[in-house]
Amino acid sequence: MATTLPANPEAIFTYGAPQLKFGPGAADEIGFDLSQLGARRVLLVTDRGIAETGVPQRIADQMAKAGIEAQVFDGVRIEPTDASLETAIAYARDTGPWDAFVAVGGGSTIDTTKAVNLMLTNPGELMDYINVPVGKGASPVNPLLPLVAVPTTTGTGAESTTVCVLDVLALHVKTGISHPRLRPTLAVIDPTLTVSQPAGVTASAGMDILCHALESYTARWYTTYEHKRPEQRVPYCGSNPIADMWSEKALSLLATSFRAAVRNGDDMAARTDMALAATFAGLGFGNAGVHIPHANGYPIAGRVKDFHPKDYPSDEPMVPHGMSVALTAPEAFRFTFDAAPDRHLRAAQLLAPNSDRTADAAEQLPAALTDLMRDIDIPNGVGAVGYRDSDIPDLVGGTMKQQRLLATCPKPVTEDDLAEVFTRSMELW
Ligand SMILES: NC(=O)c1ccc[n+]([C@@H]2O[C@H](COP(=O)([O-])OP(=O)(O)OC[C@H]3O[C@@H](n4cnc5c(N)ncnc54)[C@H](O)[C@@H]3O)[C@@H](O)[C@H]2O)c1
Ligand SMILES: [Zn+2]
Repeated sequence: MATTLPANPEAIFTYGAPQLKFGPGAADEIGFDLSQLGARRVLLVTDRGIAETGVPQRIADQMAKAGIEAQVFDGVRIEPTDASLETAIAYARDTGPWDAFVAVGGGSTIDTTKAVNLMLTNPGELMDYINVPVGKGASPVNPLLPLVAVPTTTGTGAESTTVCVLDVLALHVKTGISHPRLRPTLAVIDPTLTVSQPAGVTASAGMDILCHALESYTARWYTTYEHKRPEQRVPYCGSNPIADMWSEKALSLLATSFRAAVRNGDDMAARTDMALAATFAGLGFGNAGVHIPHANGYPIAGRVKDFHPKDYPSDEPMVPHGMSVALTAPEAFRFTFDAAPDRHLRAAQLLAPNSDRTADAAEQLPAALTDLMRDIDIPNGVGAVGYRDSDIPDLVGGTMKQQRLLATCPKPVTEDDLAEVFTRSMELW
């Protein structure tokens, strides 16, 4: 089934990005950067694991030298929930007012800080701003405060995006808040902060980079949508010439640095290229969008039973975001191949330039993905993180709630198609 072309095709795409500072030592300049914005009192948000590396306190001390009073909150939950966001928001309210926020951490920390910033500057409840149909999808009425995002993982690209992802506990569903005002004011990417990432985090977060690049590169082309009025425009506008550029470059960087960064965390050249790849993929998908692997990843993570991944906090079961999106990616790209064969082949060529040609062209990208996943120790399919065939209807139901993402798929996708993707993803090799 092909996507039906609209009567009045879209002719416009948009591109948004934060100010960006990249390089070793960039994190030591945040005090100066914030003083230029006139900030005097700043809340630095992080999680306990990262706080233990000493980096957040070092950044706070350095900000003090620029005359800024910085307080550290280290209560971020890994893979945030509505409840954990409320805890962070309450802390920030009790200890405020603040002039700006600094997020030092992975996607969990950066997203938590986006929610704190939103709720300290705007009226109402968190649920008012969460995407429909879970929440009301309201837009903030007031501008937000400056937010400096400092990623310590090489993964999400959350420092560039307009999205905050959370798990709504009562509904067992992962969803998000999405609005251009959530985008950080400044992204400070300092590759030296990523060296302490454990191998398991490097592997999972790296699969997130890869899926961002592949999904945005194969996303529905922007002119195949119905023409929007300016007030209807959303940050995700489908694949387009500018997003393509970022995705292609991210794939080439991953081809040479991903395995090396997982195998030897001290390989500074590989860490730097992974940090660039995460940023590039974030700048791409943050404007184009993602589709089936991410839509499937939400119920895989949200309905977790008893899986405890290596190198993540062990107190609660979890399927980390990058792992959750990777597990159905090979099958998803086998399914979407016929909607854009050239793009799938080009992506496979960039990711695995030296691999042999598969007899069936549709297998080229899935083969490149499973080879890599095996090498970096990603679990072998949805079955390996605790799901059975009997869970598939429930997983499909969870994916169908992600219509915002499925709308970016290069071809229409039905419940039966998704059930087939999940079934074939129970074991990948
Ligand atoms: N906003 C977006 O655009 C976006 C995009 C993709 C994913 N996400 C969200 O981001 C979250 C995942 O973020 P993530 O993959 O970056 O990881 P994370 O923030 O969940 O952190 C994972 C683990 O790594 C540890 N860690 C992080 N950096 C470290 C370092 N330098 N040294 C030692 N330990 C370190 C943390 O303490 C934690 O235990 C999910 O909630 C996901 O849904 C958001
Ligand atoms: Zn992601």
